[in-house]
Amino acid sequence: GKSYNIAVIPGDGTGPEVVDEGLKVLERAAQKHGFSFQFKHYPLGGEHYMKTGEILPENVIDELRTRDGIFLGAIGHPDVKPGVLEKGLLLQLRFELDQYINLRPVKLYEGVSTPLKDKGPADIDFVVIRENSEGLYAGAGGILKRGTPDEVAVQESINTRKGVERCIRFAFEYCRKRNQKKKVTLCGKTNVLTYAFDLWERAFYEVAKEYPDIETDYAHVDATCMWMVKNPEWFDVIVTDNMFGDIITDLGAMIQGGMGIAAGGNLNPEGVSMFEPIGGSAPRYAGKQIINPLAAISSAQLLLEALGEEKAAADVEEAVKKVLKDDLKDVAAGKMGYTTAEVGSLVADYIKTG
Ligand code: IPM
Ligand code: MN
Repeated sequence: GKSYNIAVIPGDGTGPEVVDEGLKVLERAAQKHGFSFQFKHYPLGGEHYMKTGEILPENVIDELRTRDGIFLGAIGHPDVKPGVLEKGLLLQLRFELDQYINLRPVKLYEGVSTPLKDKGPADIDFVVIRENSEGLYAGAGGILKRGTPDEVAVQESINTRKGVERCIRFAFEYCRKRNQKKKVTLCGKTNVLTYAFDLWERAFYEVAKEYPDIETDYAHVDATCMWMVKNPEWFDVIVTDNMFGDIITDLGAMIQGGMGIAAGGNLNPEGVSMFEPIGGSAPRYAGKQIINPLAAISSAQLLLEALGEEKAAADVEEAVKKVLKDDLKDVAAGKMGYTTAEVGSLVADYIKTG
Protein backbone atom coordinates (compact mmCIF):
# COMPACT_ATOMS: atom_id res chain seq x y z
CA GLY A 1 0.00 0.00 0.00
CA LYS A 2 0.80 3.66 0.01
CA SER A 3 3.31 5.12 2.43
CA TYR A 4 3.11 8.68 3.74
CA ASN A 5 6.01 10.74 5.03
CA ILE A 6 4.81 12.76 7.97
CA ALA A 7 6.81 15.34 9.92
CA VAL A 8 6.05 15.27 13.64
CA ILE A 9 6.61 18.33 15.80
CA PRO A 10 5.63 17.36 19.36
CA GLY A 11 6.62 20.80 20.67
CA ASP A 12 6.21 21.99 24.24
CA GLY A 13 4.36 21.14 27.45
CA THR A 14 1.68 18.53 26.91
CA GLY A 15 2.32 18.52 23.15
CA PRO A 16 4.49 15.36 23.16
CA GLU A 17 1.97 13.39 25.25
CA VAL A 18 -0.98 14.10 22.98
CA VAL A 19 1.10 13.63 19.82
CA ASP A 20 2.03 10.11 21.01
CA GLU A 21 -1.66 9.23 21.13
CA GLY A 22 -2.33 10.78 17.74
CA LEU A 23 0.46 8.67 16.25
CA LYS A 24 -0.83 5.55 17.98
CA VAL A 25 -4.21 6.08 16.34
CA LEU A 26 -2.72 6.91 12.93
CA GLU A 27 -0.67 3.69 13.01
CA ARG A 28 -3.73 1.66 13.86
CA ALA A 29 -5.87 3.26 11.18
CA ALA A 30 -3.13 2.69 8.60
CA GLN A 31 -2.73 -0.96 9.61
CA LYS A 32 -6.43 -1.58 9.21
CA HIS A 33 -6.70 0.16 5.86
CA GLY A 34 -3.53 -1.13 4.21
CA PHE A 35 -1.28 1.90 4.06
CA SER A 36 1.64 3.02 6.20
CA PHE A 37 3.35 6.03 7.71
CA GLN A 38 6.93 7.08 8.07
CA PHE A 39 7.21 9.58 10.87
CA LYS A 40 10.16 11.87 11.29
CA HIS A 41 10.36 13.80 14.54
CA TYR A 42 11.62 17.38 14.74
CA PRO A 43 12.63 18.64 18.19
CA LEU A 44 11.38 22.19 17.64
CA GLY A 45 9.90 24.31 20.42
CA GLY A 46 10.78 26.13 23.63
CA GLU A 47 13.24 23.60 25.07
CA HIS A 48 15.13 23.35 21.80
CA TYR A 49 15.21 27.14 21.49
CA MET A 50 16.65 27.62 24.98
CA LYS A 51 19.28 24.94 24.40
CA THR A 52 20.36 25.97 20.91
CA GLY A 53 18.96 29.42 20.14
CA GLU A 54 17.36 27.86 17.10
CA ILE A 55 13.66 28.40 16.35
CA LEU A 56 13.01 27.24 12.79
CA PRO A 57 16.10 26.73 10.64
CA GLU A 58 15.82 27.24 6.87
CA ASN A 59 16.90 23.66 6.11
CA VAL A 60 14.13 22.31 8.30
CA ILE A 61 11.54 24.36 6.43
CA ASP A 62 12.92 22.99 3.16
CA GLU A 63 12.62 19.45 4.48
CA LEU A 64 9.07 20.05 5.65
CA ARG A 65 8.13 21.19 2.16
CA THR A 66 8.81 17.66 0.91
CA ARG A 67 6.54 15.87 3.44
CA ASP A 68 3.01 14.63 2.89
CA GLY A 69 1.87 16.38 6.04
CA ILE A 70 2.87 17.77 9.43
CA PHE A 71 1.49 16.74 12.81
CA LEU A 72 2.09 19.25 15.58
CA GLY A 73 1.44 19.08 19.33
CA ALA A 74 1.69 22.52 20.90
CA ILE A 75 4.03 25.49 20.87
CA GLY A 76 4.60 27.81 23.84
CA HIS A 77 6.98 27.74 26.80
CA PRO A 78 6.64 29.60 30.13
CA ASP A 79 10.33 30.62 30.10
CA VAL A 80 10.26 32.08 26.59
CA LYS A 81 8.92 35.57 26.05
CA PRO A 82 5.38 35.45 24.58
CA GLY A 83 5.44 35.91 20.82
CA VAL A 84 8.91 34.53 20.14
CA LEU A 85 7.86 30.94 19.48
CA GLU A 86 4.33 31.76 18.36
CA LYS A 87 5.56 34.09 15.65
CA GLY A 88 8.94 32.48 14.97
CA LEU A 89 7.72 28.91 14.76
CA LEU A 90 3.96 28.41 14.50
CA LEU A 91 3.04 31.44 12.39
CA GLN A 92 6.27 31.12 10.42
CA LEU A 93 5.35 27.57 9.45
CA ARG A 94 1.84 28.63 8.42
CA PHE A 95 3.24 31.46 6.31
CA GLU A 96 6.28 29.73 4.82
CA LEU A 97 4.19 26.75 3.75
CA ASP A 98 1.37 29.05 2.64
CA GLN A 99 -1.20 27.20 4.69
CA TYR A 100 -3.85 29.71 3.84
CA ILE A 101 -6.80 27.90 5.39
CA ASN A 102 -7.31 27.22 9.05
CA LEU A 103 -10.03 24.61 9.23
CA ARG A 104 -11.72 24.33 12.60
CA PRO A 105 -14.74 22.07 13.02
CA VAL A 106 -17.11 22.91 15.88
CA LYS A 107 -18.97 19.72 16.58
CA LEU A 108 -20.61 18.60 19.78
CA TYR A 109 -20.41 14.83 20.18
CA GLU A 110 -22.86 12.76 22.16
CA GLY A 111 -21.87 12.35 25.78
CA VAL A 112 -20.04 15.68 25.89
CA SER A 113 -21.59 18.50 27.86
CA THR A 114 -21.85 21.98 26.42
CA PRO A 115 -22.32 25.14 28.47
CA LEU A 116 -25.15 26.09 26.09
CA LYS A 117 -28.52 25.55 27.71
CA ASP A 118 -30.91 23.29 25.78
CA LYS A 119 -28.45 22.63 22.93
CA GLY A 120 -27.31 19.19 21.81
CA PRO A 121 -25.29 17.46 19.07
CA ALA A 122 -27.98 18.26 16.47
CA ASP A 123 -27.53 21.98 17.15
CA ILE A 124 -23.78 22.34 17.32
CA ASP A 125 -22.21 21.12 14.09
CA PHE A 126 -20.50 23.67 11.91
CA VAL A 127 -17.06 24.49 10.54
CA VAL A 128 -15.05 27.70 10.71
CA ILE A 129 -12.86 28.44 7.70
CA ARG A 130 -10.36 30.96 9.01
CA GLU A 131 -8.12 32.82 6.56
CA ASN A 132 -4.65 31.86 7.78
CA SER A 133 -2.08 33.83 5.81
CA GLU A 134 -2.84 37.54 6.10
CA GLY A 135 -5.10 40.03 7.94
CA LEU A 136 -3.76 41.39 11.22
CA TYR A 137 -1.37 38.42 11.40
CA ALA A 138 0.68 39.72 8.46
CA GLY A 139 2.80 41.75 10.87
CA ALA A 140 2.37 45.03 9.01
CA GLY A 141 2.75 48.24 10.99
CA GLY A 142 5.11 49.61 13.57
CA ILE A 143 5.57 51.80 16.62
CA LEU A 144 6.37 55.48 16.23
CA LYS A 145 8.17 57.33 19.02
CA ARG A 146 8.33 54.12 21.03
CA GLY A 147 8.58 54.62 24.78
CA THR A 148 7.71 58.33 24.65
CA PRO A 149 4.43 59.93 25.76
CA ASP A 150 3.67 60.49 22.06
CA GLU A 151 4.09 56.91 20.91
CA VAL A 152 1.73 55.46 18.35
CA ALA A 153 1.33 51.77 17.56
CA VAL A 154 -0.10 50.89 14.16
CA GLN A 155 -1.11 47.32 13.32
CA GLU A 156 -2.49 46.98 9.83
CA SER A 157 -4.74 44.31 8.42
CA ILE A 158 -3.61 43.09 5.02
CA ASN A 159 -6.37 41.74 2.78
CA THR A 160 -5.40 40.85 -0.77
CA ARG A 161 -8.01 40.06 -3.35
CA LYS A 162 -6.21 36.80 -4.16
CA GLY A 163 -5.83 35.80 -0.53
CA VAL A 164 -9.43 36.56 0.36
CA GLU A 165 -10.85 34.97 -2.75
CA ARG A 166 -8.99 31.67 -2.41
CA CYS A 167 -10.21 31.40 1.18
CA ILE A 168 -13.82 32.16 0.26
CA ARG A 169 -13.71 29.72 -2.66
CA PHE A 170 -12.36 27.01 -0.35
CA ALA A 171 -15.27 27.69 2.03
CA PHE A 172 -17.86 27.21 -0.73
CA GLU A 173 -16.15 24.07 -2.01
CA TYR A 174 -15.96 22.68 1.51
CA CYS A 175 -19.63 23.49 2.09
CA ARG A 176 -20.64 21.66 -1.07
CA LYS A 177 -18.63 18.58 -0.03
CA ARG A 178 -19.98 18.72 3.51
CA ASN A 179 -23.47 18.64 2.05
CA GLN A 180 -25.37 19.61 5.18
CA LYS A 181 -27.31 22.86 5.42
CA LYS A 182 -25.49 24.16 2.34
CA LYS A 183 -24.98 27.59 3.77
CA VAL A 184 -21.89 29.77 3.99
CA THR A 185 -21.88 32.68 6.42
CA LEU A 186 -19.38 35.48 5.98
CA CYS A 187 -18.34 36.78 9.39
CA GLY A 188 -16.96 40.32 9.20
CA LYS A 189 -17.40 43.86 10.38
CA THR A 190 -18.59 45.76 7.31
CA ASN A 191 -20.02 48.57 9.43
CA VAL A 192 -16.65 49.64 10.85
CA LEU A 193 -13.80 47.97 8.94
CA THR A 194 -15.08 49.50 5.74
CA TYR A 195 -11.97 48.86 3.63
CA ALA A 196 -11.11 45.30 4.62
CA PHE A 197 -14.63 43.96 4.65
CA ASP A 198 -15.70 45.89 1.59
CA LEU A 199 -13.22 43.73 -0.28
CA TRP A 200 -14.31 40.59 1.59
CA GLU A 201 -17.99 41.26 0.94
CA ARG A 202 -17.56 41.88 -2.79
CA ALA A 203 -15.36 38.81 -3.19
CA PHE A 204 -17.85 36.75 -1.18
CA TYR A 205 -20.90 37.59 -3.29
CA GLU A 206 -18.96 37.26 -6.55
CA VAL A 207 -17.67 33.80 -5.66
CA ALA A 208 -21.14 32.86 -4.36
CA LYS A 209 -22.53 33.25 -7.90
CA GLU A 210 -20.54 30.16 -8.87
CA TYR A 211 -22.37 28.18 -6.18
CA PRO A 212 -26.09 28.68 -6.77
CA ASP A 213 -26.80 25.54 -4.71
CA ILE A 214 -25.41 27.19 -1.59
CA GLU A 215 -27.22 29.75 0.53
CA THR A 216 -25.25 32.82 1.63
CA ASP A 217 -25.49 34.77 4.84
CA TYR A 218 -23.60 37.58 6.52
CA ALA A 219 -23.05 38.34 10.21
CA HIS A 220 -20.86 40.89 11.95
CA VAL A 221 -18.28 39.26 14.19
CA ASP A 222 -19.90 40.48 17.41
CA ALA A 223 -23.27 39.16 16.30
CA THR A 224 -21.58 35.90 15.23
CA CYS A 225 -20.46 35.42 18.84
CA MET A 226 -24.00 36.05 19.99
CA TRP A 227 -25.53 33.59 17.52
CA MET A 228 -22.90 30.95 18.26
CA VAL A 229 -24.20 30.97 21.83
CA LYS A 230 -27.89 31.59 21.15
CA ASN A 231 -28.56 29.75 17.85
CA PRO A 232 -25.52 27.70 16.83
CA GLU A 233 -27.82 25.52 14.69
CA TRP A 234 -28.01 28.35 12.17
CA PHE A 235 -24.43 27.78 11.06
CA ASP A 236 -23.00 25.35 8.53
CA VAL A 237 -19.78 26.91 7.23
CA ILE A 238 -18.48 30.23 8.55
CA VAL A 239 -15.75 32.00 6.59
CA THR A 240 -13.81 34.85 8.16
CA ASP A 241 -10.48 36.64 8.43
CA ASN A 242 -7.49 35.56 10.48
CA MET A 243 -8.12 37.55 13.66
CA PHE A 244 -11.86 37.03 13.86
CA GLY A 245 -11.33 33.36 13.09
CA ASP A 246 -8.86 33.07 15.94
CA ILE A 247 -11.32 34.60 18.37
CA ILE A 248 -14.52 32.83 17.36
CA THR A 249 -12.85 29.42 17.28
CA ASP A 250 -11.96 29.65 20.97
CA LEU A 251 -15.64 30.31 21.57
CA GLY A 252 -16.40 27.41 19.24
CA ALA A 253 -14.08 25.12 21.21
CA MET A 254 -15.94 25.96 24.40
CA ILE A 255 -19.40 25.22 23.06
CA GLN A 256 -18.24 21.86 21.70
CA GLY A 257 -16.92 20.79 25.07
CA GLY A 258 -13.54 22.44 25.52
CA MET A 259 -9.94 22.51 24.39
CA GLY A 260 -9.56 18.80 25.05
CA ILE A 261 -11.73 18.14 22.01
CA ALA A 262 -11.07 20.97 19.55
CA ALA A 263 -9.10 19.99 16.44
CA GLY A 264 -7.71 22.02 13.61
CA GLY A 265 -5.85 21.91 10.34
CA ASN A 266 -3.67 24.51 8.65
CA LEU A 267 -4.24 23.68 5.04
CA ASN A 268 -2.43 24.35 1.84
CA PRO A 269 -4.64 22.40 -0.54
CA GLU A 270 -1.90 22.55 -3.18
CA GLY A 271 0.99 21.95 -0.79
CA VAL A 272 1.88 20.71 2.69
CA SER A 273 -0.73 20.94 5.45
CA MET A 274 -0.23 20.91 9.20
CA PHE A 275 -2.58 19.51 11.83
CA GLU A 276 -2.72 20.56 15.45
CA PRO A 277 -5.08 20.59 18.40
CA ILE A 278 -6.18 24.20 18.82
CA GLY A 279 -5.32 24.37 22.54
CA GLY A 280 -1.96 25.47 23.91
CA SER A 281 0.93 23.65 25.59
CA ALA A 282 -0.63 23.71 29.11
CA PRO A 283 2.78 23.57 30.87
CA ARG A 284 1.29 22.99 34.29
CA TYR A 285 -0.19 19.69 33.12
CA ALA A 286 2.93 18.53 31.27
CA GLY A 287 4.13 14.99 31.94
CA LYS A 288 1.17 14.19 34.20
CA GLN A 289 -0.75 12.08 31.67
CA ILE A 290 -3.97 13.84 32.58
CA ILE A 291 -4.64 15.87 29.45
CA ASN A 292 -7.24 14.81 26.89
CA PRO A 293 -5.60 13.59 23.66
CA LEU A 294 -8.85 13.62 21.66
CA ALA A 295 -8.19 17.07 20.18
CA ALA A 296 -4.89 15.74 18.82
CA ILE A 297 -6.54 12.51 17.70
CA SER A 298 -9.27 14.41 15.86
CA SER A 299 -6.55 16.54 14.27
CA ALA A 300 -4.98 13.28 13.09
CA GLN A 301 -8.39 12.47 11.59
CA LEU A 302 -8.22 15.74 9.63
CA LEU A 303 -4.77 14.71 8.43
CA LEU A 304 -6.21 11.42 7.14
CA GLU A 305 -8.97 13.32 5.35
CA ALA A 306 -6.41 15.62 3.74
CA LEU A 307 -4.42 12.60 2.56
CA GLY A 308 -7.58 11.24 0.94
CA GLU A 309 -7.80 8.33 3.40
CA GLU A 310 -11.49 8.96 3.96
CA LYS A 311 -12.35 5.51 5.30
CA ALA A 312 -9.57 5.59 7.86
CA ALA A 313 -10.64 9.10 8.87
CA ALA A 314 -14.25 7.97 9.32
CA ASP A 315 -13.06 5.08 11.51
CA VAL A 316 -11.13 7.47 13.72
CA GLU A 317 -14.17 9.69 14.13
CA GLU A 318 -16.40 6.74 14.99
CA ALA A 319 -13.88 5.56 17.59
CA VAL A 320 -13.61 9.05 19.12
CA LYS A 321 -17.41 9.22 19.31
CA LYS A 322 -17.56 5.85 21.04
CA VAL A 323 -14.96 6.81 23.62
CA LEU A 324 -16.80 10.05 24.37
CA LYS A 325 -20.16 8.35 24.62
CA ASP A 326 -19.23 5.17 26.49
CA ASP A 327 -15.94 5.63 28.30
CA LEU A 328 -14.84 9.09 29.41
CA LYS A 329 -16.34 10.42 32.63
CA ASP A 330 -15.56 13.98 31.58
CA VAL A 331 -13.54 15.61 28.80
CA ALA A 332 -11.56 17.91 31.12
CA ALA A 333 -7.94 17.25 32.08
CA GLY A 334 -7.69 15.08 35.17
CA LYS A 335 -11.39 14.18 35.14
CA MET A 336 -11.49 11.68 32.30
CA GLY A 337 -11.22 8.58 34.49
CA TYR A 338 -8.30 7.45 32.27
CA THR A 339 -4.75 8.59 31.56
CA THR A 340 -3.83 10.32 28.32
CA ALA A 341 -2.29 7.10 26.99
CA GLU A 342 -5.29 5.02 28.02
CA VAL A 343 -7.64 7.29 26.09
CA GLY A 344 -5.40 6.90 23.02
CA SER A 345 -5.47 3.13 23.42
CA LEU A 346 -9.25 3.06 23.77
CA VAL A 347 -9.59 4.92 20.46
CA ALA A 348 -7.02 2.67 18.77
CA ASP A 349 -8.72 -0.49 20.02
CA TYR A 350 -12.13 0.58 18.74
CA ILE A 351 -10.56 1.03 15.32
CA LYS A 352 -9.12 -2.47 15.41
CA THR A 353 -12.32 -4.19 16.45
CA GLY A 354 -14.52 -1.96 14.32
C1 IPM B 1 -4.25 29.56 17.42
C2 IPM B 1 -3.34 30.24 18.37
C3 IPM B 1 -2.28 31.00 17.60
C4 IPM B 1 -3.00 32.02 16.74
C5 IPM B 1 -1.21 31.66 18.46
C6 IPM B 1 -0.54 30.68 19.39
C7 IPM B 1 -0.19 32.38 17.62
O1 IPM B 1 -4.07 31.08 19.24
O2 IPM B 1 -3.77 28.69 16.68
O3 IPM B 1 -5.44 29.88 17.39
O4 IPM B 1 -3.28 33.14 17.20
O5 IPM B 1 -3.29 31.70 15.59
MN1 MN C 1 -6.19 30.99 18.93
